[in-house]
Amino acid sequence: MSAAPLYITTPIYYVNDRPHIGHCYTTLVGDVAARMARLIGRDTFFLTGTDEHAEKVVASATQRGLTPIQWADRNADEFRAAFKAMNFSNDDFVRTTEQRHITRASAYIEKLVKSGDIALGDYEGWWDASQEEYLTETVAKDNDFKSPVTKKPLERRTEKNYFFNLPKYEERLRRAIESGEIQILPEQRKNEVLGRIRTGLQRVPVSRAIKPGDADWGIKMPGDPNHRVYVWIEALCNYLTVVDTPERRKYWPKGDGKPNTGEPLVTAPIVHFMAKDILWFHAVIWPAMLMALGEPVPKTVYAHAYFVSEGVKMSKSLGNFIEIDQLKAYAQRYSLDAVRWYLATQGPLGATDADFAYGRFVEVYNADLANGIGNCASRVANMVEKYFEGKVPDPKGVFTFKESSPEHPNATFDWKELPTTLASGYANRLDHAELGEAMKTATRLVSDIDMFIGVTRPFTIAKNLDGENGAANRDRLAAILYCCAEALRIASLMLYPAMPEKMAALWKLWNCSPLTNPDDCNSAFKAPLSELAQWAHPTHGLKPGQKIAKGDALFMRADPKEPMPTKA
Ligand code: MSP
Repeated sequence: MSAAPLYITTPIYYVNDRPHIGHCYTTLVGDVAARMARLIGRDTFFLTGTDEHAEKVVASATQRGLTPIQWADRNADEFRAAFKAMNFSNDDFVRTTEQRHITRASAYIEKLVKSGDIALGDYEGWWDASQEEYLTETVAKDNDFKSPVTKKPLERRTEKNYFFNLPKYEERLRRAIESGEIQILPEQRKNEVLGRIRTGLQRVPVSRAIKPGDADWGIKMPGDPNHRVYVWIEALCNYLTVVDTPERRKYWPKGDGKPNTGEPLVTAPIVHFMAKDILWFHAVIWPAMLMALGEPVPKTVYAHAYFVSEGVKMSKSLGNFIEIDQLKAYAQRYSLDAVRWYLATQGPLGATDADFAYGRFVEVYNADLANGIGNCASRVANMVEKYFEGKVPDPKGVFTFKESSPEHPNATFDWKELPTTLASGYANRLDHAELGEAMKTATRLVSDIDMFIGVTRPFTIAKNLDGENGAANRDRLAAILYCCAEALRIASLMLYPAMPEKMAALWKLWNCSPLTNPDDCNSAFKAPLSELAQWAHPTHGLKPGQKIAKGDALFMRADPKEPMPTKA
């Protein structure tokens, strides 16, 4: 794991929509990755925001008797509030109507016009007005000349446009993706992108002519007041505009500024997350624009699949989008971190779609949280309270156990060795954005603790603390409970990125907060994971004599017979 600063982005969402599970999912993925990176000790910048210059914003605003910016303000606030409610730790929230974005995006386009990478030409094509994009002849034909997304008829449009010379970068880009210099994940998506590149790239229209009566909405083409920059091209620039300042350039190191079609291709530790619908823009058009600008290209472009709702694809016509209010209703009943947990571990991070279904939610909640980490934490704290007056017992250096029970005749528990392996595996998972897997590492550790308790039966040992073997039994009980508690502390560190509030609450109860402010689950870590997760670390580990309180259950068991939570 390199120590270079890391930059994580989500798409910027259309400001016309209401925040729903799809927006929340990708942003949660970004948030978990950012929190994992910060936990590992990397200087991390996490960005999300809204994409506001689409033509349909003007139409929607007009319908409501508002100006476009009034409508955009209102909805951008909804996204901000939704992301706050989800406890996302984004370092900034960009709106493409902000001057910082407009000024810098215009400067990038102007530079590409000067270098000849963007030039005026004729264009005739199939325009999908609902998605604000031109479709290729093949895609238009395959979809019966209807929008593949909204099924509305496509328009045949002919215009004088500015074009970006994408073919110039085709060869270098193809090699970069094939060789993994630009890592497109998951693998299946990489193959799709390569397949499409091999059919040949065409110039990309980057502007549209301003028609009389058009609202003044969007960025004007630098040097040509008759054209406006096509919203997608401008939107992609957000990733760079936000960090193109002296303080933030460390997250996107400055390139030499010369168009790059040869060797070496400079990449930077940047991860763009999105769903598969918009991979092409991020994997092909944007990196090519960066090559033309002479800037480093992102190392990782990750396109996940979709969340469906109760087994059904979500669509406007069905009106079955799981909106933020629905997620809030779940959070109110099961806690926000339970919702985050479901999204993080059951979401469509790979190539296949995933289901947000109430029945499954309760199942996962009970298995992983109420009966998993929650129950394990109360069990351990209960025993520490009952047998050692709520104080962490002294293990006297005993951290290895060779046990035998009818179910596990040869079980070895080498607790001291465990954390280092886990922590390094965890960093590796982040490099490949295997976030669900990283969380599973932690739940497996919790299961190991439960198994250890099952095999060593501390509650039985506790019945024999007097008499001949009393002292030896007490030592064994102390060692067992210390190991359970210390292992649980380490598991909780790894669970934090998905469940920051609950883990911070546990650390407070156990007097072992790794956070600079134990009352603020979003405050910085005192040390990197490699140090925090060291077994019995003198500062961060559990210390004999330290008080740990039982507190309320972290997660109450859920009754599957209760009706589904609904919006208030
Ligand atoms: N504004 C463009 C993106 C510009 S980025 C420079 C856009 N916006 S969007 O509001 O339509 O958001 C699309 C993204 O929302 C998807 O790529 C994905 O990240 C997220 N999702 C929308 N629906 C989704 C699901 N059903 N499931 C998972 N994520 C989904 O495209």
